[in-house]
Amino acid sequence: MKTQVCIVGGGPSGLMLSQLLHLKGIDTIVLEKHSREYVLSRIRAGVLEHGFAELMREAECGERMDREGEIHEGFLVSDNGAMRRVDLHKYSGGSSVVVYGQTELTRDLYDARDRMNGKVVHNAEDVALHDLDTDKPYVTYRAGDEVIRIDCDYVIGADGFHGVSRKAIPKDVLREYERVYPFGWLGVLSRTKPVSPELIYARHERGFALCSLRSQVLSRYYIQVPLTDTVGDWSDDAFWAELKSRLPDEVAARMVTGPSIEKSIAPLRSFVAEPMRWGNLFLAGDAAHIVPPTGARGLNSAASDIYYLYHAMVDHYAKGDDSGLESYSAKALARVWKAQRFSWWMTMLLHTFPDSIPYDNKLQQTDLDYLFSSEAALASLAENYVGLPF
Ligand code: FAD
Ligand code: DHB
Repeated sequence: MKTQVCIVGGGPSGLMLSQLLHLKGIDTIVLEKHSREYVLSRIRAGVLEHGFAELMREAECGERMDREGEIHEGFLVSDNGAMRRVDLHKYSGGSSVVVYGQTELTRDLYDARDRMNGKVVHNAEDVALHDLDTDKPYVTYRAGDEVIRIDCDYVIGADGFHGVSRKAIPKDVLREYERVYPFGWLGVLSRTKPVSPELIYARHERGFALCSLRSQVLSRYYIQVPLTDTVGDWSDDAFWAELKSRLPDEVAARMVTGPSIEKSIAPLRSFVAEPMRWGNLFLAGDAAHIVPPTGARGLNSAASDIYYLYHAMVDHYAKGDDSGLESYSAKALARVWKAQRFSWWMTMLLHTFPDSIPYDNKLQQTDLDYLFSSEAALASLAENYVGLPF
């Protein structure tokens, strides 16, 4: 087989790029390791920044998001029971975020690829990248007993943190920066009315908690748990009791509980791989960088990679201009590191660290008090949460 751009990974990054390039007449093939059902069963991001929503519209996939997604102009921060609001709209100069699940957005992208006869191969096994440092790179995968070869101009590694693409970059070229946090988030999805119309980020001595939502009948809650905990350690009853204990009394009192329809634990990690280009391989999204979820930046960081790559590829094919491809890694990394900084800061501000000393707790408290006493600090938070410009 032959294509112009072979995209490894059928998550939001890979699908979005495939869709955008298709609309500009550039041919792509997406190789996804898992079935569509499997990809759509992963419950992940919920908050989309303005730039991501714009990209969905440009990809002609924004219709359902605009109809069903919720615009949020602020969120709440609870500090050991005391609640304060961050007015995103006011402090960002009129911007906001969209609450729309990653599952729904991925479904919309798959539907669009189907409508336009896009080539998305599911259950592609043993994907391997070859001759990336030549002008004739190719990708192979296995379907049953058959090994299939795809010749292409460029390979996009959009196969997430555990994918194969990043590992195809030689060890003496690749630099990895990582921080692993000593806790994870236990997430529960339940068919219940959300406890609050706006998200609540809760700092509490028992550990962080987050009240989020997918719609007015579907809630998404998280609590910080030790890395040693497993999903089996947490019955629904235990989860609800712990969540309530970390929220203000009046919020806990109006919490509607119900059976969980999904429960999973995500460890928290900060990670960046540099460079994001090697030869004719370009990394995008979680394949190159991971943030702890506290600042809701993960998918949104992927969006800027896709935006830069999309424009770089269009310039290459339409105008013979390679400057976007040349500057991709440096440009993408500059924004990636800002999302890293913000996510690290939100994580340090709101979580309980097992090895913290009283001095650390005082600083955390002071950081939070300063935030709500300073218009400049609130503006900085809002600017980052709604998304820095691409
Ligand atoms: P992925 O979604 O990981 O997609 C990669 C795809 O590649 C997968 O489908 C995988 O099956 C496939 N793949 C892997 N290996 C191979 C291979 N060898 N061959 C072929 N295919 C392969 N982000 C936000 O912006 N806002 C939020 O509110 C938010 N909340 C989050 C909450 C949680 C609990 C978690 C875990 C994450 C959250 N994120 C959030 C982060 C967000 O989900 C990710 O950043 C996003 O999924 C990245 O998309 P991606 O397409 O780059 O990678
Ligand atoms: C959600 C996840 C986040 O990490 C976050 O900061 C906000 C919302 C969510 O899954 O709804």
